Amino acid sequence: MKLLIGLPFITLAANSFAAEIAPDTQYLFANPPASQSNYRIPTSYESAVLARRILALTPLGTLATVFPDSSRARQPDGLGGMPLGLLEYVADCEEDGDPTFLAINIETTFRNVQGGSNISLAQQWTPPYPPDKRIKSTFFDWLFGRNDEPKEKVPYSAVNLPRYSLLGYIEKIDPASTKALSSCFVNTHPDAKYWLPGNKIHESEFVRLVVTQIYWIGGFGDRAYIGWIPVDEWKNVTRKEWESVRLPGEKKGWDEWSTSDL
Ligand SMILES: *[C@@H]1O[C@H](CO)[C@@H](O)[C@H](O)[C@H]1NC(C)=O
Ligand SMILES: *[C@@H]1O[C@H](CO)[C@@H](O)[C@H](O)[C@H]1NC(C)=O
Repeated sequence: MKLLIGLPFITLAANSFAAEIAPDTQYLFANPPASQSNYRIPTSYESAVLARRILALTPLGTLATVFPDSSRARQPDGLGGMPLGLLEYVADCEEDGDPTFLAINIETTFRNVQGGSNISLAQQWTPPYPPDKRIKSTFFDWLFGRNDEPKEKVPYSAVNLPRYSLLGYIEKIDPASTKALSSCFVNTHPDAKYWLPGNKIHESEFVRLVVTQIYWIGGFGDRAYIGWIPVDEWKNVTRKEWESVRLPGEKKGWDEWSTSDL
């Protein structure tokens, strides 16, 4: 079919193919030395701004805790020290990058916290639109229509997109803030209105993850920063800053090869 479209389109496709620089596989999961870089790798602060935008726009994450040594009722023995990762609702209700959670005290995650566990929150950027052009596609795939294969399970390269883990500990938030936090939290998670603090069924409270370390993987290492973000930089990012950047795939028609729009 595509062969019938005509020459101008073929020229276009060939041009955009030529503009793509394939990732150097040596540096997919680590940054190259500055001397061997085809791109300007973003600084840790620029990465912090992107990360704070992900926190603001991403309502779900995985909380990881470890089981305490002491055993608990209705739980297998010998779990002490075992890590547990579970989905949790996340909201960005405070100004300095400490995510907010509505903790239910019977949840295993928060029972581990009561047992003394530290915590980490893993989140990844999920683009609202799939890219127009996939990393794996080549000019010939395009030309011969090899892209018309069954739908892929993930319509984008997830390892080329930013993700992070926020490490720290849980701190209760002063109940004086409950009203404001309830409105912020329900704004992101409407169903959470059923288990807000003071509900008749589950004992719950607002807590923050006090971020002490940030591990960031911005995407492929030849073009994105991979490493630790200093916590001062994370906390310093202002709303104005994270509102002024864009993540890959926020708008339709994006190119999977492109770097973040800083
Ligand atoms: C929590 O992490 C801090 C370091 O960030 C460490 O000093 C402390 O021992 C950890 N607590 C537990 C229970 O592992
Ligand atoms: C954080 O912001 C303050 C005030 O603008 C500035 O003095 C400080 O250098 C910044 N720290 C970092 C790590 O960016």
